[in-house]
Amino acid sequence: MEQLLQKIEAYKKEMAGFVAQKSEEAETFRIKYLGTKGLVKEVMGEMKNVANDKKREFGQILNEFKLFAEAKYEELKATTDNGQPAAADTGIDLSLPADPLPLGSRHPISLVRNRMVSIFQRLGFAVAEGPEIEDDWHNFTALNLPENHPARDMQDTFYISQNPDWLLRTHTSSVQVREMEKGKLPIRIICPGRVYRNETISARAHCFFHQVEGLYIAEEVSFADLKQTLYFFVKEMFGDDVKVRFRPSYFPFTEPSAEMDISCLICGGKGCNVCKHTGWVEILGCGMVHPNLLENCGIDSTKYTGFAFGMGVERITMLKYQIKDLRLFSENDVRFLKQFTSAV
Ligand code: DAH
Repeated sequence: MEQLLQKIEAYKKEMAGFVAQKSEEAETFRIKYLGTKGLVKEVMGEMKNVANDKKREFGQILNEFKLFAEAKYEELKATTDNGQPAAADTGIDLSLPADPLPLGSRHPISLVRNRMVSIFQRLGFAVAEGPEIEDDWHNFTALNLPENHPARDMQDTFYISQNPDWLLRTHTSSVQVREMEKGKLPIRIICPGRVYRNETISARAHCFFHQVEGLYIAEEVSFADLKQTLYFFVKEMFGDDVKVRFRPSYFPFTEPSAEMDISCLICGGKGCNVCKHTGWVEILGCGMVHPNLLENCGIDSTKYTGFAFGMGVERITMLKYQIKDLRLFSENDVRFLKQFTSAV
């Protein structure tokens, strides 16, 4: 018994004098004193030889001894290199900056759509939105395209099988109708959104894409207002050097109707594949809102006039960034997507 107490004291002294500079040395301490075959365990093992009436008192001494060893080990760990393996030993330089976190970037379609929206907002247009699943009335009939109208074939439509009256909107013109039906005049809106058409996917066509629609209805709105608005848009979007031309066209929802071309940005108007050697690229359809539309939506067509236009965001983006294949926008290849910055 006396012998054991002396042994404990001797170990304590030895432990107190233990110094460690490296974490390996602290580990040596742990193995020697606290390990499964360590000295603390060995001393604990002596308990069985202690007389029963001394067990309680001795148990306390042994417990303190164990705590002493543990506290010393914690102290050694804290004063070495915090338990981390020393840098030199692992070959890792802990002072190097961390790997950068890869940051995402905005999709080019979003960048261009946002830019388009902001240009029209500066002219006083507000943003309006509508559902992508539409009914026949808003997508066709109210837009002066009654059932069996041949112009319905201009857009191959996805119908919803549960209800033949429902479809995926083929253009954002449906949002025009929804806004006009609200009956609050004047109306000055743009409607950015996704549209769907049953097309074979190729470099030039896709089954979904994006449009920005514009509508301005008030008293005495003229074709000159339409032209000035679109001129302003083109100059802001593509710069002052771009030339613009209007060609007469046909849309059931406008009368008269026009399409607007800009001089080809790829070849500068000299002629290339993109402009099919004409020097011009079509970017939008537009016209004066057909009186039938106004009446369909409960607006007095003798008092109000309006203009409307609609353009594809993909087309504008392809011209802006000289992208030749429409499929790139939906393939989500990071190598393509990360090239675009927010500076449009
Ligand atoms: N909705 C037409 C389309 O998808 C584009 C369009 C043309 C919209 C003329 C208009 C417009 O508002 O006036 O092809």
